[in-house]
Amino acid sequence: MPRAASYPLEAAVRQSPPLDLDKAADDAWMKEKTILITGGASGFGAGFFKRWAEAGATVVIGDINVKKGDQLVRDVKRETGNKNLHFFHCDVTDWSSQVQFFKEAVKVSPHGGIDTVVANAGITDTDLKFEIPVGLDGHDPPAPKFPVIDVNLTGVLYTSHLALFYLRRNPNSSPSNPNCDPAQTHRDRHLILVSSMAGLWPIPAQTLYAVSKHAVVGLFRNLRSSSFMHGVRVNLLCPYFIDTSIITNTGKMLLAGGAVGKPEDVVEAATRFAADPRIVGRAVLVGPKVKVVQNEEGGMALVEKENEAGDKKAIWEIYAHDFEDSDIFVRNVIRVLNRVAEIRGWVGWFTDMLAVVKRALRGSN
Ligand SMILES: NC(=O)c1ccc[n+]([C@@H]2O[C@H](COP(=O)([O-])OP(=O)(O)OC[C@H]3O[C@@H](n4cnc5c(N)ncnc54)[C@H](O)[C@@H]3O)[C@@H](O)[C@H]2O)c1
Repeated sequence: MPRAASYPLEAAVRQSPPLDLDKAADDAWMKEKTILITGGASGFGAGFFKRWAEAGATVVIGDINVKKGDQLVRDVKRETGNKNLHFFHCDVTDWSSQVQFFKEAVKVSPHGGIDTVVANAGITDTDLKFEIPVGLDGHDPPAPKFPVIDVNLTGVLYTSHLALFYLRRNPNSSPSNPNCDPAQTHRDRHLILVSSMAGLWPIPAQTLYAVSKHAVVGLFRNLRSSSFMHGVRVNLLCPYFIDTSIITNTGKMLLAGGAVGKPEDVVEAATRFAADPRIVGRAVLVGPKVKVVQNEEGGMALVEKENEAGDKKAIWEIYAHDFEDSDIFVRNVIRVLNRVAEIRGWVGWFTDMLAVVKRALRGSN
């Protein structure tokens, strides 16, 4: 399309190039970072907490499970010797609880700001009340409650909204830049969203969970399309079924005979995002380690079983092509907003220069 050539969207939104999935994360880049994780008391959250604590980061977790969260922090402090580890009670469905959590994180942060926010807290919904509504005494069903939407969607929106507020105020941070030097970029502005494979395709009998996770994919795709404006890099994890406490016994029975992924691969994928500030607007699917090979026709890919020999991968890049092409509305909005950002940049420059001149006239340096 001629327009694509005249206004390349990928460059305009400043998304980074595809990930080199053969490269491991460099944990050393996390040493001075402050990271906030919701739902950090168990599962992936606890995995992120341990790995990033070992890397020397300041890690602050919030969860409704106070007993588990407190114990985890005590254990990991003892194991790693890292003193900058903290737990605070946080219910992600409650706005004021999240505000308090972000405030506490800023208070305990050695540099007074937050570099990465991980919107991780999530629950599943195992009853079928939504799919099969039940009326009481022959009447209409009562107004339904949707706890899975409250936690996985409203909670994530609250976290993301606060992240966009606090990350932009992270002292000495600059807007995300795919061309930065990761070893020299000590302050970051980074939001990691946690969706699921349930955000990519349907899971029967998990309608509301899948709705919430599809919404998180939508949140990611929209926030990354404007990250060139707000300066916050946004990345997305979509785990397949992974062995944590969120998988119920019924779920485990239904998965019998298939492969389940490992939490450490999700931790590895998140660590690449958190450690490397050059990664902007990328999404990965994390599942059981498999090997993909070309078939004889050269087109179709075959997936080998988990325990066969060969090079296997657990992390796969997805949703990489949003900005290869787009409709004229999106193209024009991005063009106009880029222009506004450019003009703002000049206004900012003039304001700073004016301040310098005023200071010089007052005789102070
Ligand atoms: N394990 C999987 O197979 C899988 C797959 C795809 C996506 N996910 C997603 O990964 C995220 C982490 O899940 P996990 O597998 O580690 O599960 P988990 O149950 O081990 O951890 C979830 C944590 O969230 C906390 N939490 C629940 N409600 C909360 C609330 N209102 N406020 C604060 N914290 C709350 C829990 O106490 C728990 O510590 C979730 O968003 C989940 O949907 C998991």
